[in-house]
Amino acid sequence: MNFSTDILSLFADKWALVTAGVIDDFNTMTISWGGMGTIWNKPVATVYVKPVRYTHDFMEKNEFFTISFFSEEHRDALKLLGTRSGRDCDKVALSGLTAVPCAEDRVTFREAETTLVCRKIYAQDLDISAVPPDARRTYYSSEAPHTMYIGEIVSVLDGRQTYIVD
Ligand SMILES: Cc1cc2nc3c(=O)[nH]c(=O)nc-3n(C[C@H](O)[C@H](O)[C@H](O)COP(=O)(O)O)c2cc1C
Repeated sequence: MNFSTDILSLFADKWALVTAGVIDDFNTMTISWGGMGTIWNKPVATVYVKPVRYTHDFMEKNEFFTISFFSEEHRDALKLLGTRSGRDCDKVALSGLTAVPCAEDRVTFREAETTLVCRKIYAQDLDISAVPPDARRTYYSSEAPHTMYIGEIVSVLDGRQTYIVD
């Protein structure tokens, strides 16, 4: 495929943190699967979170989530947040990132370059019978398939948590 843009590589190469909850009770994890686009005439971001992740609990019980993007210098922090579980440790403290409240009661990180604040408008477990057989074998031989969350992008924040789009 020759068609390639920054948008297509945004999640896959840059990675992001998806975070749900409030500052005193949240969890975050690294994601590299996701997308942005339009549905029902709304600007949306879609993420995929396996039910086994601790973050899944927070995605289920909260109406909002954030997607935070970082510069390359924070790659190690994202690796840690994508390999340790918030169930077992204070992984945010271990990562060196600083969680901060944003957009009223949501959570992002002081070090984030850009944060999308999303209102969850659709959630559905992927239907294993509709997943291509090779992906089924690779990703779901021992774990339940991802839940797809579509979030309406209600605001975009810059690195100082200032609204770029509201
Ligand atoms: C680069 C990278 C990308 C990841 N992308 C996803 C993803 O898109 N969806 C997912 O469910 N897990 C993904 N993970 C795995 C979770 O981040 C990882 O299991 C994490 O430790 C879960 O933390 P939690 O239990 O605190 O929620 C990714 C991990 C890494 C390192």
